[in-house]
Amino acid sequence: MAPGPTRAGWTDVVRLLVIGMLPTVVQGACLRRPLAVRLISALDTHAWGCRILDDLRERHGPGPVLVSVFGRKALVLLSADDVRRVLSETNVSFTTANREKAAALSHFEPGALLITPGALKAERRTFNEAAIERCVAGPWFHEACRAAVEEEIRPLLAGHTLTYDRFRAAYQRIVRRIVFGDAARDDERITELRDKLRSDGNWFMLHRKRHRLRAELFVRCRRYVDLPEPGGLARAVRATPAAAEIDPVAQMQHWFFAFDASPVADYLTLGLLACRPQQSAKARTDRAYLRACVMEAQRLWPTTLALVRDSTVETQWPGGWTLPAGTAVFSASPFFHRDARHLPYADRFEPEVWLDGRADAEWSIAPFSHGPAECLGKEIVLSTSATVLTGLLGSDWRITSPHRLGPGRPLPRTADHTSLRFAAGRGPGPG
Ligand code: HEM
Repeated sequence: MAPGPTRAGWTDVVRLLVIGMLPTVVQGACLRRPLAVRLISALDTHAWGCRILDDLRERHGPGPVLVSVFGRKALVLLSADDVRRVLSETNVSFTTANREKAAALSHFEPGALLITPGALKAERRTFNEAAIERCVAGPWFHEACRAAVEEEIRPLLAGHTLTYDRFRAAYQRIVRRIVFGDAARDDERITELRDKLRSDGNWFMLHRKRHRLRAELFVRCRRYVDLPEPGGLARAVRATPAAAEIDPVAQMQHWFFAFDASPVADYLTLGLLACRPQQSAKARTDRAYLRACVMEAQRLWPTTLALVRDSTVETQWPGGWTLPAGTAVFSASPFFHRDARHLPYADRFEPEVWLDGRADAEWSIAPFSHGPAECLGKEIVLSTSATVLTGLLGSDWRITSPHRLGPGRPLPRTADHTSLRFAAGRGPGPG
């Protein structure tokens, strides 16, 4: 008999689908549903999902496991070495344009780099790199971002309490100003359109495409690029040459969408720091440390829950078996980021791992991915997050909701940012 990968038995398939996948689908893959986020956090579903993967690895060893559901095959990775291999062979043997991911994202960003298959991907990546780099290298951009953040964060400091809804509303204005320029500050319709289409994306291929809404979103977006003096990333888009098959506005949709993970990570970072006065004091004055705190929040509660690929050619695997082209390949970030068998710091808040090279050495810890499809927005995101948090840390905050984010016990695997609340001023808090 020809050698093959370990195949998950039907009980494992059911466990993976119901406990591993279902919570992600229920909370929304493209747009989080707040009630579902609360429910899955209360149940700490990621802890259950991680246990299943850990159990598979215990029983079958570190090689990947093949799962088959209604004829669709997916290879579930269980070792950091395999994650490194798949990420580094992206665009060679594996594509980021996985079928299910493309079905979800094409509701609002068809033509975006992340879901571009084949040779066109390199051209679109070059355009994305050039436009984003133009901003990162330009002092005008950093100055505009700093001004946008400071202006939008100021009203939050005036209030005595901080809720996620207030924080996110302020962040939406920041994101619009950074992506489309100051002219978009109050364009709530553009955010509404994006989020309506994202909620369609939560249904993958099961939801019909709402072409009229998407056209309206793209027209609104193009208007900012076509302004006499565009601002933010729109200014760089205007100045960056694009070949006919690259729609710059489609690329911008991804930037606009992906930026929505920042308020989640920053808000949880604030929660972690609110329970740790010494680390909070350090983060106030040491920007590199503060950025490491944001990365650490992303490690503990990754906003991208899985790195997914489709194989594009046959690949050979240890043990002598061959994976056919067209198979999905799946790396669950909550599992690898908290792999207690390999990471002594798995369930602790330890920003130092981002400063001494320990986290970067592990490719399976990948909030912004690694390799040829690594996130191009990382610098803009971290710089924005550091400015937001520096502003907020000007006040002392304590948690007033029953979240347990303090030291002294393992941090939960699933966190609910939506009901996390703060009050200004030190005090005991639940921590
Ligand atoms: C907290 C915010 C963000 C997080 C956590 C994040 C994370 C990621 C991850 C994990 C990937 C790779 C997915 C994969 O390997 O399959 C990715 C790709 C990408 N990100 Fe981000 N991202 C964020 C914000 C942004 C922003 C603001 C921009 C643009 C300004 C951006 C631009 C991109 C692009 C263009 C890609 C596609 C790369 C490719 O396929 O070659 N991201 N991001």
